[in-house]
Parts: sequence; C-alpha cells; structure tokens
Amino acid sequence: MDNKTRDQKRIQKLRNEIARLRDAYHTENAPNVTDDVYESLSRELKELLKKHPEINKLNDLNAGENRVAGRPLDKFVKVKHSIRMLSLNDVFSVEELREWGERIKKLAGNRAPSLDFFCEVKFDGLAVSLIYEDGKFIRGATRGDGFIGEDITENLKTIHSIPLVLTPPPAKGEVGRGSLPKFLEVRGEAVMSKKTLTRLNLVNEKEGKMLFANTRNAAAGSLRQLDPKLSAERKLDFFAYDIAEVSGGINMSKHSDKHKYLKDLGFQVDTNDALCKNLDEVLSFIRKFEKIRSDFPYGTDGVVISVDDLKWQEVLGVVGKAPRYMAAFKYPAERATTIVKNIKVNVGRTGVLTPLAIFEPTLVAGSRVSKATLHNFDQIERLDLKIGDTVVIEKAGDVIPKVVEVLIRMRTGKEKKFKIPEVCPACGGNVEKKITTPKPLLNKEGRKIRISSPPFEGGVPEGRGGISVAYYCINQKCSAKNERYLEHFVSVFEIYELGPKILRRFKDEGLITDAADIFTLTKEDIAPLERFGEKSAENIINEIENKKRISFARFLWALGVLHIGEETARDLACHFGTLEKLINSARGVLAEIDDIENIGPAVSKSVRDFFNDKNNLNFIKKLQENGVVVEKTEKRKAGKFAGLNFVLTGTLSTMSREIAKERILALGGKIVGSVSKNTSYVVVGEDPGSKLKNAEKLGVKVLDEKNFLNMLG
Ligand code: IVH
Repeated sequence: MDNKTRDQKRIQKLRNEIARLRDAYHTENAPNVTDDVYESLSRELKELLKKHPEINKLNDLNAGENRVAGRPLDKFVKVKHSIRMLSLNDVFSVEELREWGERIKKLAGNRAPSLDFFCEVKFDGLAVSLIYEDGKFIRGATRGDGFIGEDITENLKTIHSIPLVLTPPPAKGEVGRGSLPKFLEVRGEAVMSKKTLTRLNLVNEKEGKMLFANTRNAAAGSLRQLDPKLSAERKLDFFAYDIAEVSGGINMSKHSDKHKYLKDLGFQVDTNDALCKNLDEVLSFIRKFEKIRSDFPYGTDGVVISVDDLKWQEVLGVVGKAPRYMAAFKYPAERATTIVKNIKVNVGRTGVLTPLAIFEPTLVAGSRVSKATLHNFDQIERLDLKIGDTVVIEKAGDVIPKVVEVLIRMRTGKEKKFKIPEVCPACGGNVEKKITTPKPLLNKEGRKIRISSPPFEGGVPEGRGGISVAYYCINQKCSAKNERYLEHFVSVFEIYELGPKILRRFKDEGLITDAADIFTLTKEDIAPLERFGEKSAENIINEIENKKRISFARFLWALGVLHIGEETARDLACHFGTLEKLINSARGVLAEIDDIENIGPAVSKSVRDFFNDKNNLNFIKKLQENGVVVEKTEKRKAGKFAGLNFVLTGTLSTMSREIAKERILALGGKIVGSVSKNTSYVVVGEDPGSKLKNAEKLGVKVLDEKNFLNMLG
C-alpha cells in the first residue's frame, strides 16, 4: 500500500472515530474517553489533512471536522443562531502561539503597527447564547452545531449569575445611568464549580448514579435536563465573554470594551484577564495563570487570546469554523494518542525484561516522547496490545509515560501480535519466568501495609490478586544487565562523576569488569583515554575515594538484591545493625529474618537466595578488599518520632534533604514518598511540589521549616 492510500484509510478511520466520540460526548453526556484523547485524534486528523490538501475538505462546511461539536437533541426546541457560534483554533505550545502571532502579523501587513492582545481564562463548560430585548432576558440556547442550537431558556433562568433584567450602564460623562441596549446577544460559558461537582458526584455515588468525569460534562448534563428544577439543583454559574450583536448600546472598538460593558450590564465576567502589548506579555499571562489554574474554582483548559481591536478582528476574519483573530492556548494534555510502531524489550539490572512501546515522537504533558513503558508482559495481554495499534499514552509530571488503553476501533486488521522473547534480547541468554505472590503484610492494627519501594522492575503486582509474573535473563554475564547494574551501583554510592557513558567506556576499555573494580581505578588509568585528561581523571578518582565509606542501608541497596529498594534496605539495616549479622541470618545461622516488620516472603526469599550465592559473597569481599567500608547502623530505637511518617517536599534552607531524612530516622520516624491520609506530617521547604497541595486536600498536617526544626529539637 502506498503512503497516500495508507493516509487516506487512516483519515477515514479517524473521521469515524472522532464522529463517534463527538456524538457520545455531546448528545449523551456520557464520556467514555477523555478530552485529551479526542483532541489528540483530531490533531492527527488535522495534520494528515494538511499533508493531503486534495483530501482536505476544510472548505466544505459540512465535513465532520469543520462542524462545531454537539448535535441538538430532539427533546428541546431548536433555535437558529442569527450569528453562527464559532469555535476556536487551538495552539498547544509556545512555538505554535508564536506561529499564530506571525501569521496574523503577516495578514495584517504594515497596516497594523502593533496589535494588542486580550487574554482571558478559557472556561471548560458549555457555550451558550443569551438574547436580551429592552434589557430583558428572552431566550437562551446551546451552541449545538454552531448554526442550530437548543432552546434551554428555562434552565438558564435558574442560574443566578444570568441576569433576567439588565442593569442600566453608567451614563457616559454624566451622572446617573445610561440606557439599555434594544437588542443584545451575549455569549458565554455555563459552568459548574469544582466544589459543586465533588458534591454532586458524592450524592450520585451514594445513589448509584453515573458520575461526571469533569465539570464540563456536569454542566452540559445539567443543562440538558428537561425539567428546569433538576437544572436548578445543580447550582450552575455563568461567565460572559463576548457580545455577538448589540443595537442601541454604546460604541465599542475593543474586545476589552465588551468585557467592561458586560460587567456594567450586570454580567459576571472573570477578572483574570490582561491586556498585553505583545506575545511575550501573553506568555507571562499564560504562565501566571498556569500556577493558579489548579486552585481556580472552575474547570479551565487554557487561555483565550484575542486581537483586542475589533477593526482588526474584522480584517482578519473567520476561516472554516474559527476566527483567525483568536486562539485558544491549551495547557499540556496528560494524555495523547499515537500508533505503536514496535515493542522493544529492555533488560534491567536484575535481568528483568521490560517491554516498551515505541512510537513517533508524540507531544504529551509538554514534552515529546517516543517510548512508553508497558510494565510487564501481562500488561500487553491485559491491554490486548498489538504492534500497529493506536493507543492512549499518559504522562503526569516527570513520570515515565505509560500506555493506558488500546483504541480497538482504530484497527485495520494489519496489526501484529507481539511474542515474548524466548532468549534475552541483549545477550541471547536463557530467560526464566518467575511468579511471586506476596502475601499481604499486616501492621500491628491488622491493616495492610505496603512493601517499601520494592524494585519490582517489570513485575509490579497488580490485578490478579497481587500475583506478578516477570521474565528474567538468567545469564550472570549478560552485558545489558551488567551495565544497568553498574549504573544503579554508582548512583546509590553517589559517585556522580561516573555517568552511563563513562561506565560503558571504562568497560569497553577493559578498565572495569564489575562494580568492585571502580575502587581500584587510578588517575593513570583514566587520564590517557581520549576525551579525558588530568583534570577530569582527578575529579573522578577524588569522588570515588570520597564515597568509599557507605552506610549499611545504602550498601545493601547498592547490592541490587531483588525486591530490596531504599526503604526495605533501611528496615533490614536497622534490624540487623551489621552486614555480618544479616549474612548470618540469611544463611540460616540466625533464624529471625522472617519475623521482621515490613519484610514479606518475597523479600526474605530473595535475601536468602542472594546471600547463599557464593558469587555474591565473593563480590562483597572484593568490594571490601578494594577499600569499601560499610558503616554499621544504630538499631532503631523507639524515639519521639516512633510511629510517625513524614513526607518531604521543597528545599530546606538549613539542611539538605538527606540530612533531614537521617534526623527523622534517628528519632524513630519514617520517610514516605507520597502523601496519603496516613501521612503524619508533610515538611515543606521552598518551592514545594504537588505534595503540599495533596496534603492540604487530604487535611494532613503541614510543617514549615521553623516548626520542623522545633520538632527536631
Ligand atoms: S471566545 C469564537 N472566550 O471555548 C468562539 N470562548 O473552543 C469563542 N470558551 O465555543 C468565543 N471560555 O465555549 C471564548 N473566555 C472564553 C471562553 C471560550 C471558554 C469556549 C467556548 C468556545 C470554545 C472554543
């Protein structure tokens, strides 16, 4: 199949799927897919249509992609809009915003010396049109398909922020009030606050009713109630943002004048707006609003930017369904769609095989990614993923993107099934299947507790009653496995000078064969290597020398024992105090390993296996002979922080995070990575992350640095 035919087929698939989602979205208020996914598919369609202008039907107003979403339902009376309700073109990045700026500048030519921009919040609700005659609200309608909407006057009358009678605006230059417009059509957004949505969903959950996925669907669903009483119960709000038509009112020459006039007439107009002289000012508005967006009481998905001068708006005009003089800047989506080109298998430091989905660079959560983790092979089955499938990927913050869903309807029949490799893709060594069934761990109150940050690479226990199936390369000499292990080892030893590239180089040059060899390196070994030199060699050697002493807990973590992450290593170190005691216990000399709090059967088995393997004991011996000193750990005493757990966020000014952790541990407290309702305290430094917000949401106690220091004493 040639490229064009393939694209043509894809366009057809995309059109069908987008139309189906649009209908589900706007007529049934029953979202089965998030906005991000809908938009991602639309974006791909737009790009393909751009590539093939001959297939592009952009000038055909009836073409699916040129229709404004939402079809009038039969239940309501249909209304024809005298002025079409348009939609907005989206821009997804700074780059696209600048391109839009360039485009309109070119179109305006030299005639417009400088264009001011008006920025305002983009509400995520339902667009409505309100008609006023002689100051009285006479009709309100939904957007529908932009040409024909639905008459929802009675429902809109229940919204308190929609004035039923307008307030006469202040008289120009005189004392008192001026006259009301004879005719006025206001455009704005009917919205539901986040608080109201939470309350509504709580009630719906109790009553076994459908839950709304977001404030937009809730607002839309509420306005489509045939009984206005039901609508009234939903406590909707309305924000006015535009005037489509006015007669007998004041003269307005700017979009910002419209906002002011709307306010004067008694409409609720959001105050988060700004008049900007250029795109840099627009960008700082966008950044400023981004910071407060999550605390904004209503759902928003971006910022609307308009050329402020109405004369220039007219010159720039409308193309297709959207005005050229406006743009909607959309904040990065956390979900996007893409086509899986291949499934690659990575080898981790424990030898675990982790499948990765590979795709064309795709924009998600503000950055372009080309691979996403599939966690384990079970996940491929659970998702029913095939190579060639269109998938939904998700990325939140710094987290590695993951594949969350396969869009089965986008299949062409040419997708290929993935086969679990029979041998290690890196070294060709044997692969072994391991199944772990961690029994739930209970704390003293009989509640389930989590195994602390286990390196369950590729084998995250999920679904299937916690059983985790993982495949491992069992070749001790597997090069990929060894490389990953070296990277892990130096990062736990905090030998920051040795990055993955340098480690690989040292291995290739024969300077090291395992991690213990790192400690015998000399300046003379490194300096002669190409791209190194006296100075960098010295830096590396000094750093290695400085990191030879290590706490027992970190040493244990560095060994890379399966299922032993940072916290479990700390638990074991606190219990045993010295490496020798742990080894003796693991080798059966002491029997206590199973009785330690927080240690489950999977961990104790892997500790036993590890310390009963001669190669591992030899490796430890070699490390010690090469100068590594393992410091013993003070046994955990019941301190004043016993039973308390702490989450750290932001930067403290008086101590590093490591020191803060150690001080908490020394007093018997625990450190946990994320905030839950079981967290005792969240210690907040400067520039805290989302953990502070979570703490506030869950009502967890927050300690600033001063209070934290007081508590430490
Ligand atoms: S301006 C030309 N201003 O976004 C039509 N629209 O994606 C746009 N929206 O249909 C009108 N907040 O429902 C405008 N402050 C705002 C908005 C806004 C939300 C919605 C509106 C529109 C959709 C386009």
